[in-house]
Amino acid sequence: MLRIGTVGTSPITGKLIEASKEVDDVEVVAVCSRTEKSAHAFAKKFYVERAFTDLNQMATDSEVDAVYVATPNTMHFEHVMSCLAAGKHVLCEKPLFMTGEELEQAYQEADRQGVVLLEAMRHIHAPNFKNLMESVSKVGNISSVYLHRIRYSSKYDRYLAGEINSVFSKELGGGATRDLGVYPLATCAALFGEPNSVQFTPTRLENGVDGAATIVLKYNRFHCTVMCSKISTSYNKSEIHGDQGTLMMDNVAPITSLSFTSTSGESIDVGVEDLLPNMSYELITFRDLVNRSDLRSDSYNYYRSVSRILVKILEQCES
Ligand SMILES: NC(=O)c1ccc[n+]([C@@H]2O[C@H](COP(=O)([O-])OP(=O)(O)OC[C@H]3O[C@@H](n4cnc5c(N)ncnc54)[C@H](OP(=O)(O)O)[C@@H]3O)[C@@H](O)[C@H]2O)c1
Repeated sequence: MLRIGTVGTSPITGKLIEASKEVDDVEVVAVCSRTEKSAHAFAKKFYVERAFTDLNQMATDSEVDAVYVATPNTMHFEHVMSCLAAGKHVLCEKPLFMTGEELEQAYQEADRQGVVLLEAMRHIHAPNFKNLMESVSKVGNISSVYLHRIRYSSKYDRYLAGEINSVFSKELGGGATRDLGVYPLATCAALFGEPNSVQFTPTRLENGVDGAATIVLKYNRFHCTVMCSKISTSYNKSEIHGDQGTLMMDNVAPITSLSFTSTSGESIDVGVEDLLPNMSYELITFRDLVNRSDLRSDSYNYYRSVSRILVKILEQCES
């Protein structure tokens, strides 16, 4: 059994705890919050046995094997490093870190401790992402890619009303690119590897944070146009175009429908329905990487390479 402690008590941690109930050999055994009151309330709400207010205490507890970190983006490095230093495996929310330097330092520490550090990029672990990877060749020679995550956030209303929240805070590493753009950008990194160059065009809010952005990734033979926004909504599909046809997905994260239409107009479904909550799949990957205890495995290297490419892209975006 992989015994997990969680850090942060926002809705996403609740979803992770619910998702863990669908995964064999994984159990959330502890939660950590900065205040006693919210630690206990959160533990009670999700039927978790133990509540901590000190991350170091939870990370050094012998009954905790791994930690899920879901705090504001600029806090990830400090929180992850203290868990790794205590010899715990870490699953940390996207985007893993603010800089490539932090990423390399954390991988070094994870390797030194012999533990797994995985970015919680939920959509790339789900069955439809595998289907997407396997179906890309159907389009033939790729000519262009258009992926987006454009969804109006109620937190924008709160930002406009003067509330400070991490998603719209530069200091806490927020902005549309780091919050939503990371999903299509990780898709590009996972499918096509490192781009030759990155062009970033943000729509900035008054406080300097990007409320929306268009990012063009240039590869040798095609460009990927990635759009993201927290201040507007898109009803379009995301697409990969080629000389044999087009792959279409309703949504990038999670992909809930995936189809291919050939240049002659015939369409087939190439997706499946998720049987588990989207976050269960990243937990399955995390559990398997921990259980395999092979820090040189191809799959671990692959996920690390996706995180490395993503952090490089984000650094170039200067969001
Ligand atoms: N996978 C997904 O679908 C998904 C969805 C949403 C967010 N996320 C990611 O999850 C992470 C958290 O995002 P969020 O919107 O939930 O953030 P948030 O609400 O601002 O903060 C999350 C939690 O972190 C703790 N926290 C807040 N400020 C802190 C600080 N200054 N220092 C230490 N702890 C602090 C709080 O818990 P306590 O008050 O209990 O300490 C809070 O509940 C981000 O990395 C985000 O990208 C992922």
